[in-house]
Amino acid sequence: MNMSLFTIDQKKCRRDGMCAKECPAQIIVLADKDTFPTLMENGEESCINCGHCVAVCPHGAFTLNTMPLAECPGIQHNLLPEAAQIRELLMARRSIRLYKNRIVAHDLLEDLINTARYAPTGSNKQQVQWIVLENPADVNLLASMVIDWARLILPLMPDESMVMKMKRRITAWDEGIDLMLRGAPHLIVVHSQADLPSAEADCVIALSSLELYAYAKGLGTCWAGYLTVAANSHEPLAQALGLPKGHKCFGAMMLGYPQYKYTRIPKRNTPLVTWRP
Ligand SMILES: Cc1cc2nc3c(=O)[nH]c(=O)nc-3n(C[C@H](O)[C@H](O)[C@H](O)COP(=O)(O)O)c2cc1C
Repeated sequence: MNMSLFTIDQKKCRRDGMCAKECPAQIIVLADKDTFPTLMENGEESCINCGHCVAVCPHGAFTLNTMPLAECPGIQHNLLPEAAQIRELLMARRSIRLYKNRIVAHDLLEDLINTARYAPTGSNKQQVQWIVLENPADVNLLASMVIDWARLILPLMPDESMVMKMKRRITAWDEGIDLMLRGAPHLIVVHSQADLPSAEADCVIALSSLELYAYAKGLGTCWAGYLTVAANSHEPLAQALGLPKGHKCFGAMMLGYPQYKYTRIPKRNTPLVTWRP
């Protein structure tokens, strides 16, 4: 049976209704147990192309026309980590500010992004865009532009402690020490159209996912907060980054091989939780 949006393999379909129940837009109809799933009238307009119908079907009977089954691999359950492993990873991950003088292979950078693209996005819009600086000299140039921006905003900063922090970074830079991008060999930037409803959350979640996978791959990362602010307010930096017009930088991350291994998990504050039993 060929629908405009999906195809049902009638030999495989058991008419269990899982696809219809799972669909977030509720556009798959299974009238009764003797019929096959069909598309609701005008259902195409509500489909967010999330592929849950394909992902949930245990019989391989459901194909979305945008998603050939060959491009939707089966989950390798034996590869999924135990909860204890994920917990340890989440607690052991650190911000890395000391990097080895070694570049990360292009294939590995590609692997990081290809994995992070599976992070959730609002309405499955998948509008996160990436800029990857592969050349350490370019990262250094951007760090110098963050310093240019810091020198410009220094007289405008109202908070004395922020002024002190910024002055320290500028003085260090003048002495040959990079406290902005920490001499990282690479920088990964996420950006999206500024006015999309979930653009910021989508970008931050994607970069957070990348950070965790990078850690598991033996890499170190550190969020580049100053660069993120500067990218959205200092035009020469936005241009050097190649941010498209109307786009905003929602996060940036230094990346490279860490100089040191950490042996302990530092203490964190007790969470501020309102329990509502
Ligand atoms: C949004 C954000 C921006 C950050 N910006 C910077 C930065 O510009 N420079 C830096 O050295 N660390 C930066 N950090 C790292 C934090 O200082 C770090 O996460 C915090 O001290 C906790 O350390 P941990 O990540 O090792 O647990 C940033 C972290 C976040 C989440």
